[in-house]
Amino acid sequence: MMKTRAVVQGVGHYLPERVIPNSWFENKLDTSDEWIRARTGIESRHFAAEGETVSELATKAASSALGAAGRAADDVDAVIVATSTPDLTFPSAATIVQAKLGMTRGYAFDVQAVCAGFVFGLSQANALIVSGQARRVLLIGAETFSSILDWSDRSTCVLFGDGAGAVLLEVAECEGSNRDRGILATDLHSDGRHRDILYVDGGVSTQEIGHLRMQGREVFRHAVEKLAGTAQASLDSLKITGADVDWLVPHQANLRIIKSTAQKLGLEMERVVLTVQEHGNTSAASIPLALSVGVERGQIQPGDLLLTEAIGGGLAWGSVILRW
Ligand code: UT7
Repeated sequence: MMKTRAVVQGVGHYLPERVIPNSWFENKLDTSDEWIRARTGIESRHFAAEGETVSELATKAASSALGAAGRAADDVDAVIVATSTPDLTFPSAATIVQAKLGMTRGYAFDVQAVCAGFVFGLSQANALIVSGQARRVLLIGAETFSSILDWSDRSTCVLFGDGAGAVLLEVAECEGSNRDRGILATDLHSDGRHRDILYVDGGVSTQEIGHLRMQGREVFRHAVEKLAGTAQASLDSLKITGADVDWLVPHQANLRIIKSTAQKLGLEMERVVLTVQEHGNTSAASIPLALSVGVERGQIQPGDLLLTEAIGGGLAWGSVILRW
């Protein structure tokens, strides 16, 4: 039976120019390149320049995705920005991006699910397209976590980076099987009881921007369990296994978490797109960045089956399976 799918027709990314190696932290904090590499896999990350905002990163990534798809901004029906670090309290980063792209039609809004934001955004974009509310959705993950880091806290500030990635999703009529291109399965979860293990200690209502706070070991424990669980649920819903997946494109928080998830799913590390070494944890931007870099490297090819998964503050987590 024919089925309406949301198919990725273009991908792009943007990374701020400033590259910060692990050694940058060594004379500021009691830390070392060895510790950061061994515990996280991170070697360097990009930080936005003074005054460089999320909407600027997002617009550059979006322009690149539109170019890859051969589309103009006014071909787009909806813009979604997944971010926890918007330029302003309002309007949304997405409407700022809409204006910067020169779009005069359609609608735009933000999704806030922290590091799981891009997975939640994929699910929302899919719902808009499958329900007929949009034919083309520009989905962007963009973050400047450098603006919410506590530079005196070695257990968090060495982990994060800034950047943006974007995909253009378009409607397609498909045969209705696992061979179809596009989004094939989504699985979302959150559990607000865990808010205290990963949060920002400020916000609009409290009159402080606040800083990121994390109980790393606890988050690690949840990540290892919940990421494998959601990935398995998506695989089960399509009656397939890890062996059917061409590329795992995980949220890039920690190489040890990624290895553990891949192992649980029976995936060799050769089939995992890794960018955590050069990007650090870019929160909602990490998966679209990895998709874009994976295509640029020639790893991800048209027709490949991809599994993405992410977990972040909330806790919120989920997975998506899509054929490229
Ligand atoms: O994207 C959102 C989801 N976030 C995540 O997935 C992050 C999940 N958590 C993690 O990735 C890891 O827990 C961390 C990388 C944050 C920490 O690694 P860990 O192996 O869990 O280390 P730990 O927190 O158990 O700390 C081990 C030791 C501690 O010292 P003591 O108490 O054993 O003396 C820390 O104080 O390492 C110390 N430590 C550091 N040492 C040098 C913590 N941060 C640093 C540092 N440099 N930057």
